[in-house]
Amino acid sequence: MRRSFFWKIYLSYAALVVVSATVIGALVLGNLREGALRELRANLANNVRLIAAMEGANPEHLWSPQLPRHLEEVARDTGLHLLLAFANGRPIAAAPAGYVPDAGTDLLAQPEFAAARRREFGEHTRSLAPGGPPFLLIAMPILHEYEIIGYVRAGLPLTTLADRQDALRHRVLAGASLNALLALGLGFLVARHVTRPLARISEVCRRLASGRLDQRIRLRRQDEIGVVADTIDRMADEVQRRVAAETRERQRLAALLAVMADGVVAVSARETVAYLNGVAARLLGLDPERPIGRPVDAVLPTGPVRDAYVEARTTGRRVRREVRLPGTGQDHILHLDATSLRDHDGGPFGVLIVLHDLTEIRRLEEVRRTFSANVSHELKTPLTAIGALIDALLEDEGMHAGTQRRFLRKIRDQNERLVRLVHDLLIISRLESEESVLALEPVDLAATVRECGHTFAEIAAQKRLTYQVDVPDQPLLIRGNTEAVSLIVNNLLHNAINHTPEGGSVTLTLAVEHDVARVDVIDTGVGIPPEHQERIFERFYRVDPSRARSAGGAGLGLSIVKHLAQVLSARLDLESEVGHGTRFTVRFPLPRSDGTDDAKE
Ligand SMILES: Nc1ncnc2c1ncn2[C@@H]1O[C@H](COP(=O)(O)OP(=O)(O)OP(=O)(O)O)[C@@H](O)[C@H]1O
Ligand SMILES: [Mg+2]
Repeated sequence: MRRSFFWKIYLSYAALVVVSATVIGALVLGNLREGALRELRANLANNVRLIAAMEGANPEHLWSPQLPRHLEEVARDTGLHLLLAFANGRPIAAAPAGYVPDAGTDLLAQPEFAAARRREFGEHTRSLAPGGPPFLLIAMPILHEYEIIGYVRAGLPLTTLADRQDALRHRVLAGASLNALLALGLGFLVARHVTRPLARISEVCRRLASGRLDQRIRLRRQDEIGVVADTIDRMADEVQRRVAAETRERQRLAALLAVMADGVVAVSARETVAYLNGVAARLLGLDPERPIGRPVDAVLPTGPVRDAYVEARTTGRRVRREVRLPGTGQDHILHLDATSLRDHDGGPFGVLIVLHDLTEIRRLEEVRRTFSANVSHELKTPLTAIGALIDALLEDEGMHAGTQRRFLRKIRDQNERLVRLVHDLLIISRLESEESVLALEPVDLAATVRECGHTFAEIAAQKRLTYQVDVPDQPLLIRGNTEAVSLIVNNLLHNAINHTPEGGSVTLTLAVEHDVARVDVIDTGVGIPPEHQERIFERFYRVDPSRARSAGGAGLGLSIVKHLAQVLSARLDLESEVGHGTRFTVRFPLPRSDGTDDAKE
């Protein structure tokens, strides 16, 4: 750009200089030539007039023998070729010597003499000898008392004029060339002075256009170019400020969208993915980086989200619905909201899709539903049994006393079962209510576990089980909650005794292992099949519902154990083999020797 602009200016300027120098030179030369010719002619005419006047005043001189010598002297002094002739055209004398015309020449027929004969000023230009130089010839009549008594002619070879002109032309050419050279040099400097800031401006503009917004021209000139440069600099300031503000705004928005709990997908009017946050990527099973900028056809080829997108885009209406997407493990249930966006002119701007994950809400709803159903079911069974037993007692007045007692015992059993169920439900509801935070305090784990062991000794003996409690005598302090620890151990012992047939054994141990206190409840009972081992911690889950019911369990014990273990930061493990027995292990964290402990407040 710089080259071309510089050369454009400079070459046109140079052409102007050369053309004007040439034209002016030619004019000057022409004028000089004209002027020189005029001067020569005037000079010649004066000389001729002088000679004619002198000879006319003194006509005898024409016949004087001195004439040729006088003429010779005048010719030498003036550098002219002179010729005198009588009125009849006969030459009298000529100088310099040897320039006498041939004898036969009719002088009066020659144009300059013909004019002189008519008493006019005769002038002609021609060679006096074949091959000789051209002469400017001027002839005049010599008048004596108004009579033509002769003629005088003077000639000057034009070679003299040409020589003078040559010299002049050289001078003019040299002057013009010097002038042109000076003008060209000056022009070069001026063109550079003008185009250099333009080159700087164009270079900075190019960098600004390529996104380097920190570039400035900074010319500090007072002229129009300086104003242009200043204006561009100020425009760049403004653009940079706006771009920075825009970028900040976009980053803020991106940060906001990224931390949003909802999935957000923005599709541009050109049907490419303009934005997609991490939640959306997870819900749609996409890599969060890759889809951005790619066509929506490739990112979402099929499925309910795509259908909603297409519907929103083609109808321009907002599409809201609940959809189910296959996910890893379980399906995602999403509330989908697709809005077709319009810019301020009403033209399509793209589609914004917001995905609200309902999976957890729906799962909790399901849990609550089944929980209510389970609770109702668990309550209904004993209540129905109690009702039927009371009816039987009331209807049969003469019932045998033994039978009556048997019925009453059954009513008491069912009532106990109800009490236990309600007790467990209360524990669960307490654990779930957010306000209740278990108070953590120093607990003597050894004493608590030993106490639980004693509670079940009698029941185990009734069932003819080998029952063993192996707990160290000295106290073992942990941060916890006595009631929670008791609930854990009691539930595990209750299960072990319940699921171990007569003649089996149940063992309760406490030991310190590294930085944990380890409690084991071991039985030689029926065991738990591997496929159930994961699920027995769910509420109301029982491996064999019919048998468990006969043993009186509602399936809540282990879910309470699991929940409490979590609260106490204890780890719960299970090993079991069908037909051989089961071992539940709870590892309570021990306080560190430096006084702190791992148990969370
Ligand atoms: N020691 C064990 N041996 C074999 N199976 C067990 C043992 N402990 C638990 N189970 C199985 O796990 C199921 C769930 O136990 P959980 O303690 O949660 O309920 P439950 O004992 O049946 O009833 P609840 O404890 O509410 O009275 C039991 O029904 C039983 O099938
Ligand atoms: Mg139980």
